[in-house]
Amino acid sequence: MLRDRVQEAVDVLRANDRGGYTVPTQGLYPFQWLWDSGFVALGWAVLEEKRAFDELETLFRGQWENGFLPHIVFHRDDPGYFPGPEVWGTGREPRSSGITQPPFLAPVVLHLVRASGEKGLAWARKLYPRLLALHRFLHLHRDSEGTGLVAVLHPWETGMDNSPAWDLPLKRVPRHPLPSEARRDTKHVPPEERPQLKDYERYLYLVSLFRRLGYDPGFCYRESPFRVVDVGFNALLLFADEALAELAQLLGENPSEPRGWWQKGLSALEALWEEEAGLYRSLDLCSGRRIPRDTSAGFLPLLLPLPRPRVERLMATFRAWMGEARYLFPSVLPSAPYFEAKRYWRGPVWAPVNWLLAWGLVRHGFPKEAARLREDFLALVERSGFREYYHPLTGEGLGGQGFSWTAALYLAWARGQSSPPVGPSA
Ligand code: GLC
Repeated sequence: MLRDRVQEAVDVLRANDRGGYTVPTQGLYPFQWLWDSGFVALGWAVLEEKRAFDELETLFRGQWENGFLPHIVFHRDDPGYFPGPEVWGTGREPRSSGITQPPFLAPVVLHLVRASGEKGLAWARKLYPRLLALHRFLHLHRDSEGTGLVAVLHPWETGMDNSPAWDLPLKRVPRHPLPSEARRDTKHVPPEERPQLKDYERYLYLVSLFRRLGYDPGFCYRESPFRVVDVGFNALLLFADEALAELAQLLGENPSEPRGWWQKGLSALEALWEEEAGLYRSLDLCSGRRIPRDTSAGFLPLLLPLPRPRVERLMATFRAWMGEARYLFPSVLPSAPYFEAKRYWRGPVWAPVNWLLAWGLVRHGFPKEAARLREDFLALVERSGFREYYHPLTGEGLGGQGFSWTAALYLAWARGQSSPPVGPSA
């Protein structure tokens, strides 16, 4: 049975392959997305190492001269998606959006290098300066006060678009009237599995604001009514800084710059710890307050070295969440008043989060819990196929079908539990 699913996963990746890049799914997401590319590369690596590097090289064709990497690269036209390149109007070639996404790329490159030796090193050498430029952009332009943590300016930058954590900061964002044909997503997926109109109107306001500001990083940072230190984005960036420093060493480059960001960020992360809740929370920079919403992003610092008592406390919270969901790992605690079992990032299980949390658990010596994340994910695919996300209580498949990151991570995980490319188990 597992063997059939492996073949199906290969078929999904091949069907979504557009030559050098992979669309997340046909119809709903017909372009190349930033953090999807990282997860997708982990799957390609199982089939063809070179193809995995190609995915990232193609993504970096969309990098701007200042190091910024957009969250979507519109390599080809497709009328089925809104907001398309004409709405963003970034004036770049290839055409792209003007916001970013979690930089889950350096850890993937390091993982690929560890698996493919000398050949991999040669490919990584080409990507290294681009990765460094991206990390420099983020640490410089998204942390203008030099705190060690970076801000996101749009919920889409977090990759967890409609997480309940963004409800409060989004209240400050005016609503931008949407053209009637704008909600093309709900032509592909039932509306109750997607973000709501009131959120979409705010997403679009931010896009139009950044466009008016010419995507200037300084202006956008100062003017955006949405400015949040997302714990998920920062955990992934710091994890990627650590991987970048390691890559620098392997390539004979100087690791001190990424290592410096990493060390500073690790101590700054303390500001996001919420002792009473027993997990990390994001910080709203406009109000100066931590956002009182508990989401799966609050566990992503497990990817980083943490003091032992902190890990124990976080694991106690993790186990409480385990007790509430049939399938791990829900994006929101099922008993929370803001939990919605089917609505996107407000409850469902997402493959990439399971993968990242499992890496974190392996890093901190919790193989049993990591195995549970893998088993639940494999069971979800077995039951419901390669969906975009899943109902955490029933296992029902939700959102897009034939989804690339789900298929890719299935391939990567079908072989057994994987270890993170940095840390004691690397
Ligand atoms: C949605 C998800 C985001 C993902 C994108 C493409 O916007 O929230 O995380 O990158 O779809 O799959």
